[in-house]
Amino acid sequence: MGIERNTTNSMPAAADVIEQVGSIKETGTIPSQIHNDDEIHQLELERVFSDTWVLVGHESEIPEPGDYAKRYIGDSPFIFVRDDTGEVQVLFDSCQHRGTTVVRAEQGNTSYFRCPYHNWTYDTTGELVGVPHKEEFFKELDTCEYALDSAPQVDSYRGLVFACLSADAPSLEEYLGDFTWYLDLHLQFADGGMEVVGEPIRWEIDTNWKIGADNFTGDSYHTLATHKSAMDLDIFPPELSAAGAERTPADITECSGHSCMLAYLENQEYAGGYPEDIFTDTHLSDDQLRLAKRLVSSVGTVFPNMSFLQMNLNPDPENREVTAFLNVRKWQPVGPKKTQVWNWILVPRGASEEFKQRAYDTGIGTFSVAGNFEVDDFAVWDGIAEAAGSTFGKKIGRESNFQMGVGDMSDSDEISDEFPGPGEVYGTNFEDGTMQTFYQSWYRAMTGQHIDPEDSQ
Ligand code: FES
Ligand SMILES: [Fe+2]
Repeated sequence: MGIERNTTNSMPAAADVIEQVGSIKETGTIPSQIHNDDEIHQLELERVFSDTWVLVGHESEIPEPGDYAKRYIGDSPFIFVRDDTGEVQVLFDSCQHRGTTVVRAEQGNTSYFRCPYHNWTYDTTGELVGVPHKEEFFKELDTCEYALDSAPQVDSYRGLVFACLSADAPSLEEYLGDFTWYLDLHLQFADGGMEVVGEPIRWEIDTNWKIGADNFTGDSYHTLATHKSAMDLDIFPPELSAAGAERTPADITECSGHSCMLAYLENQEYAGGYPEDIFTDTHLSDDQLRLAKRLVSSVGTVFPNMSFLQMNLNPDPENREVTAFLNVRKWQPVGPKKTQVWNWILVPRGASEEFKQRAYDTGIGTFSVAGNFEVDDFAVWDGIAEAAGSTFGKKIGRESNFQMGVGDMSDSDEISDEFPGPGEVYGTNFEDGTMQTFYQSWYRAMTGQHIDPEDSQ
């Protein structure tokens, strides 16, 4: 008699785990397993990162024809390039000969890309323009058929370039939907818009990409504990902080599948941070302009992995000049428990050089690899992935709790009717609806549903 094999698997199947996330709005919980699981990670690459609009970069990073930078969508390498005609291209970085990556430098300027393997050469639009010894060995090769592949959809919003690896997905305009109302508060308040300073700084953290993305939808709760030491230094002026009494909070929990939190000074004309005379753009409505000038802090996530953060901070305790800066983030998945963080700092194009430098320094000193807020987050985010991927954690069906302020948990009120912006809005920064929205969008993407453009109030 042969040995009987144990065919029962006590670990939950990926499909069941994903299904549980679908009821987050009712339960307020999700299985922790989604934060460190090989199979779910693979499915994310196929479903989330192949079917949604993913940030590639900012147009100001490649101002001149031939400027290029290497970028990734999920695990797929792309060349972000301004071609010779001035158009922005997002080309799959895989040579049409044997498939190796053509670009090896992180960025540069070039009039053509030459593959290092056998030297097939492409122009900046991706056309194959050179095949060594073609007349001898490749006489019948039709070079027109061997251009580098392009991302199926590429579009930009206020300078931010996104690409989508599905030709069937809704347009970027539909995908961002009403959420552009909030993006514009950060991207379109000054004439000329925003520009990137320097290169995006990158670093790796030992956690799942969704942890940073969910935190940036508006986890104000953690600031009281995780960032207590930074707060104690008055980097965030106490009267402007989440615990301070002055600011008016708003959580935008459901806005075309995206979410954010804002805090502003309702009773003041202007919150400082940016030079007051910079608020000159005419694209904002009166309501938006009013809010933009009063903002003291905001964070948000465009599903799946683009986040932004704008804050008025003191770069150091000695420097009392409160300065606003805008971070744009990308939580680049590297594995189920490894994320590469990409961090751009944006400033108003028309601001003085002095202000741009100060904003850059403030951003780097607080929310960047060695920033005093950033290191606090690394220290706790890795533990989530560690426990989520553990055998015992999976076996007992460990759940993560997103019930704060929801239902009868607190007295937070929905203020959608009185708030000028779209979405389902709550008059607090202490509730988990913003994160529920993120995981709801994840569930939809993982089950093949497109983000519903109508899904905002
Ligand atoms: S693989 Fe690129 S030229 Fe051969
Ligand atoms: Fe944090």
